[in-house]
Amino acid sequence: MFKTLDELGSGNRVLVRLDLNSPVEDGIVKDNRRFARHARTVRELVEDGHRVVVMAHQGRPGRDSFVSLDQHADLLAEYVETPVGFVDDIHGDVAIDAIRSLDAGEVLLLENVRMCDDELPEKPAAEHADSEFVQSLAPEFDCYVNDAYSAAHRSHASLVGFPLVLPAYAGRVMEAEYEANTSIASREFDGQVTMVLGGAKATDVIDVMSALDEAIDHYLLGGIVGELFLRAAGYDVGYDVGGTELYDHQWEDNEDRIRELLAERGDRITLPVDLAYENDDDERAEMPVTDDIEKDFPLLDVGSTTVERYGDVIEDSAAVFVKGALGVFEDERFSTGTVGVLETIATTDCFSVIGGGDTSRAIELYGLDEEYFSHVSIAGGAYVRALTGQSLPGVDALTRSCERVESGVDQ
Ligand code: 3PG
Ligand code: MG
Repeated sequence: MFKTLDELGSGNRVLVRLDLNSPVEDGIVKDNRRFARHARTVRELVEDGHRVVVMAHQGRPGRDSFVSLDQHADLLAEYVETPVGFVDDIHGDVAIDAIRSLDAGEVLLLENVRMCDDELPEKPAAEHADSEFVQSLAPEFDCYVNDAYSAAHRSHASLVGFPLVLPAYAGRVMEAEYEANTSIASREFDGQVTMVLGGAKATDVIDVMSALDEAIDHYLLGGIVGELFLRAAGYDVGYDVGGTELYDHQWEDNEDRIRELLAERGDRITLPVDLAYENDDDERAEMPVTDDIEKDFPLLDVGSTTVERYGDVIEDSAAVFVKGALGVFEDERFSTGTVGVLETIATTDCFSVIGGGDTSRAIELYGLDEEYFSHVSIAGGAYVRALTGQSLPGVDALTRSCERVESGVDQ
């Protein structure tokens, strides 16, 4: 396994990779829970008297969200409660000078690593380790810390290259996310295990279901994937109406797998028994899922009877994993499903992991306390990969770095 900050000592020159990738609106970087989470790791490094240099990315070339990290430095500083310097260079002379002039307990953020040509190609770790980026920066440091679990599904230089050339450690976010998100496979629970699955990306959910079999006792479905399963079960829902483009193509891509899952695991899959929509007075209205149901307008949430039934299953569960929202929770009228399920989880003392960017946003939006959940993930793609049992290149690189040191290669 990887090493953690417990083994890092003090007074080192530390290069730390965070994931501060954030929503950007009109050029303004929006605060989000990633800053608060990673600040704990940075704070700990500062308190241990390390010189802390932070690498992070924002957006991708060609997108509006591909901006400088200067605003990120201020946001991070607020949470770390210590100044965070910023340098608009990554591994050139200006960056190296700034790194060398740091004192113990000081923090410096480098420019968006995706502005460096060496960063983005998906390449094996060994190739990244040979890049100019890694080779010019690594000699300035005693060790490397990766805290960017939510980006660890990418085989990019800042995530996989450095652990090959520097002693590498997992930061606190990396450690906590890894442990919680792999617990479906790694832990034995004393009772039934339930997954609540929804959201807009049906393909992700179906991948998760296909990868997990024996480990899950109940799948509670909602959102788009819930409707697609109802369609497969013979109900007249689960297709696009009024110009949406969410259902038909996902149905075409996944119809066979949905039918197969329903045939093989129907006894463990629970589908909505009622659904909510907006009536002519712009209010939430509900209708039961019956043989003569017909979809003439968008269905925006699961209904209240469904929420009650899902709540009963959750109350009898030892562990609950959530991936995706059950309805369009951004609109309060259609938040009943998502928030109802989260509230039941919060009041039950089961082990719980809430993941997928959107779902965790509901926790924030409706003022639920994170403390009531075992783990609220800040990862999207990495969470799905962890649930499907795939390894993450960023985590593998940390583990390999550790094995190399243990076998004496670095001595
Ligand atoms: C994310 O925000 O999902 C991660 O930071 C990874 O970013 P990416 O999807 O642009 O690679
Ligand atoms: Mg992403």
